[in-house]
Amino acid sequence: MLCNVHLLTALASLAPMVLAYDHSKNNNVVVYWGQNSYGAKHEGDPAHWQQQLSAYCADDTIDVIPIAFVTAYSSKGGLPELNLANICSAASGVFPGTNLANCQFMESQISACQAKGKLILISLGGATGNAVFTSNSQAETFATTMWDLFLGGSSKTRPFGKVVLDGVDLDIEGGSSVGYAAFARKYRSITNGKNKRYYLTAAPQCAFPDVYVGEAISSVAFDSIYIQFYNNACGNHVYGNKNAWNFGTWDNWAKRTSPNKDVKIYVGAPASDTAASYGYVNASTLSRIATETKSKYSSFGGVMFWDASQAFANGRIDRTVKSAMGGSIGNTGSTTAGPPTPTGGNCGGAPPWDKDTVYVGGQQCSYNGHLWSAGWWSQNDTPGQLNKNGDGAYVWKDQGACSGIVDAAALVHTDSYHIIDKADETDPVILAGTLTGPVIPPTEAPSPL
Ligand SMILES: *[C@@H]1O[C@H](CO)[C@@H](O)[C@H](O)[C@H]1NC(C)=O
Repeated sequence: MLCNVHLLTALASLAPMVLAYDHSKNNNVVVYWGQNSYGAKHEGDPAHWQQQLSAYCADDTIDVIPIAFVTAYSSKGGLPELNLANICSAASGVFPGTNLANCQFMESQISACQAKGKLILISLGGATGNAVFTSNSQAETFATTMWDLFLGGSSKTRPFGKVVLDGVDLDIEGGSSVGYAAFARKYRSITNGKNKRYYLTAAPQCAFPDVYVGEAISSVAFDSIYIQFYNNACGNHVYGNKNAWNFGTWDNWAKRTSPNKDVKIYVGAPASDTAASYGYVNASTLSRIATETKSKYSSFGGVMFWDASQAFANGRIDRTVKSAMGGSIGNTGSTTAGPPTPTGGNCGGAPPWDKDTVYVGGQQCSYNGHLWSAGWWSQNDTPGQLNKNGDGAYVWKDQGACSGIVDAAALVHTDSYHIIDKADETDPVILAGTLTGPVIPPTEAPSPL
């Protein structure tokens, strides 16, 4: 036994230091993941589409990831709907008798993110506005459903398997305000006093008070408020105009109205100029906004970004801003989440193209003496020919003439369904985030936040 204890101590000292989320800090970075905002705006650039969640947990920059979104509360079989765009949705498989996506392949990815000290939340709503309650009692029942499906409860239909998420986020941008205060109250009554802290957050528009969650956040204790300083006249683009940019109003709300006087207020920002209609400011301007707001307002908790795909395609704006706020970004690792770019036309490991096979983004085949890589999901689209759906695009990218040298490494990208099925924490391919996973066409993605 003594030997084992020594061994464990020795191993623990070798393990990388885990930077656990610290709610009391004022340099946290929150990044929404799930909607492939970049892909929805750049269908022709699949290399920068949203990657598996694990790709965004690789360094210490991101502290909180709200998974977006639960898009309906009571659908087929009385259960909600979950849409994660190109990574997981009803189109990639549901629990029998429901429209609830089964995303259990993400279980190990989520627990790996949590093991790195990150909070993983589940976000309700989104820009489509299809998620609505019709009564307070329905909302209260739904709080129990969320507990059973995503948090400490139990159910046969848990979309992420056994992993227990850290809380719920309300990003309500349409529908109705009905039920949210009741939902929040019931959520608190279920989660209070448990031996794990369950967070409750919301992402209102900067325009005060918020139409949909204003009542909820003013009557129930929330932990953090991720204010959308974009798509509104009060956005970050008018930071210089103190009558328009209204963080002060929110700071005042935090201190006087919020039931939780320690609530953290975040500056929410588009992660690139295509992530929102307006409100985008570049990394250096946002860094200045963040550092000035941090020193001026005690309620400031950090910066929220919409979304992960846009941040990674925009030079890691999240890192620049986190560093400016004095936060740790950890090891630099890989700064791009896209699949590696093939360097030549070595066809040794790429199987011949087959019209009946379903290919997903990143997979390779050989055809007509050339190596081809798939940009996205396809079936029966011949390499070198325009896609049969008439979109004027080519799903297959020509990687050049085959050199004929056998290259076993090329096999890695020919079997992503298989690898995803067997995903576990020890799989270096999954942790590296190089797979595009079970991909559905980008047209499935709802409009961005
Ligand atoms: C960032 O935006 C500001 C304000 O528009 C501009 O003055 C500055 O040159 C920009 N910086 C970079 C690096 O683009």
